[in-house]
Amino acid sequence: MLKQYKAIKNEYADAILLFRLGDFYEMFMEDAETAAEVLEIVLTSREAGKGRRIPMCGIPYHAATGYIAKLIAKGFKVAICEQVEDPKKAKGLVKREVIRVITPGTLIDEQLLDEKNNNYLMALVKQAEVYGLAVADLSTGDFFVTQIPAEEGLLIDELSHWQPREVLVSEQQLPLWPWLKQHTELLLTPRPALDFEWENAQERLLAHFQVVSLEGFGCQELLAAVAAAGALLSYAYETQKSQLSHLLSLRTYYLDDFMHLDQYTRRNLELVETLREHKTQGSLLWVLDRTVTAAGGRLLKKWLEQPLRRLVEVEERLEKVERFFLRHQIREATRSLLRRTCDLQRLLAKLACGTLNPRDLLALGNTLKLLPELRVELLREEMGPVAEMAKAINPLPELAALLTNALREDPPIIMTEGNIFREGYNLELDALLSATRDGKQWIASLEQQERERTGIKSLKVGFNQVFGYYLEVTKTNLNLVPEDYIRKQTLANAERFITPELKKYEELILGAEEKRAALEYELFIELRQQVFTALPELKRLAETLALLDVYAALAETAVQNHYVRPEVNEDKSILIREGRHPVVERVLPPGKFVPNDTLLDEKTHRLQIITGPNMAGKSTYMRQVALIVLMAQIGSFVPASYARIGLVDRIFTRVGAADNLAGGQSTFMVEMSELANILHHATGDSLLILDEIGRGTSTYDGLSIAWAVLEYLWNPQAIGARTLFATHYHELTSLAKRLPGVENLNVVVAKEGEDVVFLHKILPGASDRSYGIEVAKLAGIPGVVLDRAREILSQLEAKGLKERSQKVALPVNPAQQLPLFVAEDNPLVKELRNLNLNELTPLEALKLLFQWQKRLKKKEA
Ligand SMILES: Nc1ncnc2c1ncn2[C@@H]1O[C@H](COP(=O)(O)OP(=O)(O)O)[C@@H](O)[C@H]1O
Ligand SMILES: [Mg+2]
Repeated sequence: MLKQYKAIKNEYADAILLFRLGDFYEMFMEDAETAAEVLEIVLTSREAGKGRRIPMCGIPYHAATGYIAKLIAKGFKVAICEQVEDPKKAKGLVKREVIRVITPGTLIDEQLLDEKNNNYLMALVKQAEVYGLAVADLSTGDFFVTQIPAEEGLLIDELSHWQPREVLVSEQQLPLWPWLKQHTELLLTPRPALDFEWENAQERLLAHFQVVSLEGFGCQELLAAVAAAGALLSYAYETQKSQLSHLLSLRTYYLDDFMHLDQYTRRNLELVETLREHKTQGSLLWVLDRTVTAAGGRLLKKWLEQPLRRLVEVEERLEKVERFFLRHQIREATRSLLRRTCDLQRLLAKLACGTLNPRDLLALGNTLKLLPELRVELLREEMGPVAEMAKAINPLPELAALLTNALREDPPIIMTEGNIFREGYNLELDALLSATRDGKQWIASLEQQERERTGIKSLKVGFNQVFGYYLEVTKTNLNLVPEDYIRKQTLANAERFITPELKKYEELILGAEEKRAALEYELFIELRQQVFTALPELKRLAETLALLDVYAALAETAVQNHYVRPEVNEDKSILIREGRHPVVERVLPPGKFVPNDTLLDEKTHRLQIITGPNMAGKSTYMRQVALIVLMAQIGSFVPASYARIGLVDRIFTRVGAADNLAGGQSTFMVEMSELANILHHATGDSLLILDEIGRGTSTYDGLSIAWAVLEYLWNPQAIGARTLFATHYHELTSLAKRLPGVENLNVVVAKEGEDVVFLHKILPGASDRSYGIEVAKLAGIPGVVLDRAREILSQLEAKGLKERSQKVALPVNPAQQLPLFVAEDNPLVKELRNLNLNELTPLEALKLLFQWQKRLKKKEA
């Protein structure tokens, strides 16, 4: 057996091999050691001949899913090796085969998946000057390809967009992307270079889709894309050991089809998760997602990650959302019907891979039954294009009826133990059922009958696995046992008997039950095959249902949150009245958010410089503009009283001095490379949100850089993008007088005595000053420090910045100085000075701070 194990393990060296032995999956040697640790199960050992022992551990097969999930979550691959012949019938060693390899990128089992997230597998290849990318979700059947210029930045953006769980690259190209390996959540799987060869890839794709050319998928000419897609498919076949019939088509997309969002912008705008905590709550998705199906949730997320570029497409979506927006009853009826549907996409993946179980089939039947009603709701004239969609829904009435008539109301998940089908579905099955039933009835009546015949009042009929049916008589009544009873077993105070007649019925029942289970299994496979023929139809249906869910959900959100339908066009202007930040307004108490207007255009309002104290609302305002534009371009209504959006090709957002210590780069370096990326890629159709760029360096450097960047962005010969620019450099506000199209905005604050009150209102003009000291006071900086700051400020202001800080007079009272930073011999100061910030993670920094504070406190005590 170990020889068999080793042979199989050799073929699946990079996976943990689960080797089926009876009711257990066993793991041996290194696999056992790894698994025991990851799964926290006991490591034992097993005799391996000549007195040697090898490590071993096992998991019960019926509880395997949970363990497999754990291994996958840790990035391992798992090969499932089953007994492929009946052990009772096997001569010698039972034949075993790997029936499936489960890897993080190829999951199809819903217990291993997150229902609201796609699970993407990606293949990546470089050819000449392009990267070919293929992305598939085997659990839904989505399959996309594209080709992008061979630029690392673009590749990173695509990775951040798809977030694949596993990336396939050619063994030979592995060294091309050393950083791919460092991406911790990403599993990198090297594959044979042959798989990525265009000819092999193309052949595989043609065979899979049963076509003679890839023309229909729009990727015939994209050699690198085809190479990636073929390689992906080959891996999928190899792991799933199935025909993957649910991968029905391949969609070619181009980066230009969608609004381009780079990785920083995605993170910064907190589209699907928050920046710091990586939680859905607090993201735009969290506000928008009122979908009622898992597939709808996944689709909405996809939309958010790929906002549209083309006017007609945006209009089409908005139009459908509006139909649901206006018809409350239809919307509600639709949503409540959709809520009762099953996750058809994932069900179809299981159908294609042969793992669909009886309960899944019932869920499918129940979903089909809802369709006629759904069609009635939607097939109304006032639903316009939504009605058109509904017309295309095929409720597959025969299939629905077939499933309803076939399946019991509570079919099991297991398909080999019967109890799947209703009576009346199959004559042979009915006969077996009634044989079982008659036999059981006879046995049930036997007890009474035998009590009367023998006079033993306590006589009982029982059943156990070893002896089958028996008659049980207590010791005190043994003298009454008739002659025809045959003794089978003696217990402490009773004896068990059988009779020939009892055995005859027993055989009838048990034989019938076994036959019945076998027959039901056969019938189930047959039924599943019938459903299989409807796969393309069902796939279309799944897509339609997901779309309907998203339209209705966006409408629901629009109603609940008081959004309006944006007007969209291809002008280069953005006009928003009473715009709100969709997330911040949800977090604040109702009515507390202060709406603001926005006007950006090509001519007089191209670039706006926003000044105002910290905490006034600059960042919120700028993000709100970006989010409103983005929402419009996914086809959503927007938080405003009116909005007219000239579509943008890209949104860029950058935040100065982002704390990226973990990345090991200095913040200024990060900031500048992000900025460089914008200057290279922004166009006159882009929208730029720059939040305090240039903060990470000295004042004069920062100011000069910000200044030059602004001029470049403003210049229509260079970029000329619509730009919002928040800054603390008041000097920049003078640009408004010199460059046409540059405007100043400020967030007003009211001053009450020494305190500031934030009004969060954006008004034209530059802010007069920063109120930094007032804000510092709000943050709890001690009074002495604030007083000293005021002193310095007034001197700096009086002398003009140019004369700089040397001229600032020494404090009148030196005791105000903080001792920590002047006491040269203080060990804390030495440590601080010698600290290499670039080598610290934020967590380590925090720990250090904590220790220092503790030491300081000790000293003071
Ligand atoms: N328009 C608004 N209405 C109500 N509260 C707001 C508004 N804008 C901002 N705020 C509040 O002020 C806080 C600080 O805003 P932020 O945009 O970060 O300020 P800044 O970038 O000017 O420092 C936000 O967290 C939010 O709670
Ligand atoms: Mg800010």
